[in-house]
Amino acid sequence: MKRLEVQAFGVTFRNPILLASGTWSPRLNELYPLSMLGGLVTKTITVEPREGNPPPRIWETEHGVLNSIGLENPGIDRFIDKVLPELEQLNPIIIVSIAGSKPEEFYTLVERLNPTNVTAYEINVSCPNVTRGGIELGKDTTSLLDIARNLRELSHKPLIYKLSIVHDIDQIVPLLTPYADGFTLINSVPAMAIDLQTRRPQLGNVTGGLSGPSIKPIALYAVHKAKKLTHLPIIGCGGVSKLEDVLEFITVGASLVQVGSANFNHPLIGKELVEGLMENLI
Ligand SMILES: Cc1cc2nc3c(=O)[nH]c(=O)nc-3n(C[C@H](O)[C@H](O)[C@H](O)COP(=O)(O)O)c2cc1C
Repeated sequence: MKRLEVQAFGVTFRNPILLASGTWSPRLNELYPLSMLGGLVTKTITVEPREGNPPPRIWETEHGVLNSIGLENPGIDRFIDKVLPELEQLNPIIIVSIAGSKPEEFYTLVERLNPTNVTAYEINVSCPNVTRGGIELGKDTTSLLDIARNLRELSHKPLIYKLSIVHDIDQIVPLLTPYADGFTLINSVPAMAIDLQTRRPQLGNVTGGLSGPSIKPIALYAVHKAKKLTHLPIIGCGGVSKLEDVLEFITVGASLVQVGSANFNHPLIGKELVEGLMENLI
């Protein structure tokens, strides 16, 4: 097991396989022990509970899953009281994904989570499915830099910024590097699908985020590019569905890898990737 260990952001991960935000449920633990994974990234949490976007919120295209969940979550109070204690039973490494529609919300979230046992924060400034505090915030480099500076001061834990391919990686990665501990690349890719019968969008929110194998080449490109711009560890995410994908992300410079929508059609994927890596090392 030792040889699969990864040191990143001052944390020891037992292996490089993490489950991506919004793509798994604690019930997966009924299929295999989630403690065998490198860690778990939670669904993005906001200060107040959110109901998310109108249905339909998931649409399967011939090139991957389109989703517009819109950060549905129970809010920070319930997360700390009810959700977190359950997650802590599953894996000691919990990375909490956070988002806010204004800077103060990011600060509140970090202040509330600092006294807990969570391992790190993934700052989601790349959700394609919300009107405020998502991808648009990630593009507003002045606000983002301000948030990053303040979070650096406030946070007692590593800060990992989750970016999208629509961000200007050349600009944003060097800008955030002095205030960050790492990056996750990439979030789902803004996309849409049309129903030709009705001539209307397939998603209730009109647009959504595409994930799955079709975005892997885009994610590899983003990691490769970011790697040249920062010395910080990078988590690769996007289209991982088999062992070779993990090795490709590691080859372009990722320290860790997140598995997202593959959990839906193949719930044992996390377990199989860890086992595959172990065999690969022998
Ligand atoms: C149904 C669904 C919900 C998601 N929810 C979140 C979320 O709350 N926060 C976040 O940062 N990313 C979210 N994502 C994006 C994933 O974490 C991941 O970045 C993206 O799906 C690309 O990885 P994949 O191709 O392996 O799925 C979601 C993705 C899906 C499919």
